[in-house]
Amino acid sequence: MSAFDALKPALQAAPRTWLVTGAAGFIGCNLVEALLQLDQRVVGLDNFATGYEKNLAQVQASVGPARWANFRFQRGDICDLATCRAVCADVDYVLHQAALGSVPRSIEDPLSTHAANNTGFINMLVAARDAGVRRFVYAASSSTYGDHPGLPKVEDVIGKPLSPYAVTKLVNELYADVFGRCYGMESIGLRYFNIFGRRQDPQGAYAAVVPKWVSSMIRNEPVYINGDGETSRDFCYIDNVIQANLLAATSQHADAANQVYNIAVGERTTLNQLFETIRSLLESKFPHLEGVRPVYRDFRAGDVRHSLADISKARARLGYEPTHRIGEGLAEAMDWYVQDLG
Ligand SMILES: NC(=O)c1ccc[n+]([C@@H]2O[C@H](COP(=O)([O-])OP(=O)(O)OC[C@H]3O[C@@H](n4cnc5c(N)ncnc54)[C@H](O)[C@@H]3O)[C@@H](O)[C@H]2O)c1
Repeated sequence: MSAFDALKPALQAAPRTWLVTGAAGFIGCNLVEALLQLDQRVVGLDNFATGYEKNLAQVQASVGPARWANFRFQRGDICDLATCRAVCADVDYVLHQAALGSVPRSIEDPLSTHAANNTGFINMLVAARDAGVRRFVYAASSSTYGDHPGLPKVEDVIGKPLSPYAVTKLVNELYADVFGRCYGMESIGLRYFNIFGRRQDPQGAYAAVVPKWVSSMIRNEPVYINGDGETSRDFCYIDNVIQANLLAATSQHADAANQVYNIAVGERTTLNQLFETIRSLLESKFPHLEGVRPVYRDFRAGDVRHSLADISKARARLGYEPTHRIGEGLAEAMDWYVQDLG
């Protein structure tokens, strides 16, 4: 039995209180849903900067009224310390997801990214420390590997950040580490690689590649590839991320806490391969996609060329075992997008 399969009944038998920040966003709302399904008590915080009420409405519909009653939502900003303190009260575990994602957004507007990702982050650390939470799990990022060319990426070997966004995520790790040393606080940083799945926003200039391409293909709009398409990523399905968060919060491994972990699958897919996989998954429902080709344009500033994770540390210390490889995740996500957008 996997560590996650063992954890689920244990949590159901002894429910805890969890705070999910960024609860109306892609990863946050999926965490809320998974926790409510396991009969946990959940507090959600979001200011709707990039999240949506409809994400929470979908969670409500999926978990049903009895479990939804275990959810309390607070609309608010992590840049406000009093708000952070209010939501941390009586919480066992924090899953801190709230941030402004996107490398290009941070290049265009570094101040707003800094405010949410660094001022907001340290507010949450202070509030969680003072509330005495058991563990603070936070969304770190593969962007922290920056310009280091080594593959696969191993946690201890990082390069220089390539964007303001990457700086903020590196600073998160530094602050979390120092809060462990100075105040004995337990934290775990999860360096997400490219995450995809249901409810990831396909709209806007800063949309992630999978939902943006799916949406463009369904609507018969051009799909743009930045560069030659041989740029590669370690794409990771949302269910793997849910598993990683719950294991990180609860792992009793002696060396689990005050560490960062790669959260990915450990497989590399080029953008050209991704395009073809999505196209072929959609083709039967959308015949206009037969033979469709992407439109190539310039490389994008701040993007790393290749990304591939070594996930052995998360396997060893958290018991993390991805359940979905890219193809399985895309097939599930596609069904959801076809329903939502089709
Ligand atoms: N999706 C990925 O591939 C990926 C990769 C690496 C890291 N991450 C990190 O994972 C986390 C979640 O990302 P996501 O993909 O779900 O993005 P998302 O934009 O869907 O979710 C982020 C949520 O945080 C909220 N938020 C932003 N600023 C806030 C503030 N100041 N106060 C309160 N709420 C605020 C937004 O409204 C949104 O609902 C982020 O920290 C992101 O940097 C994501």
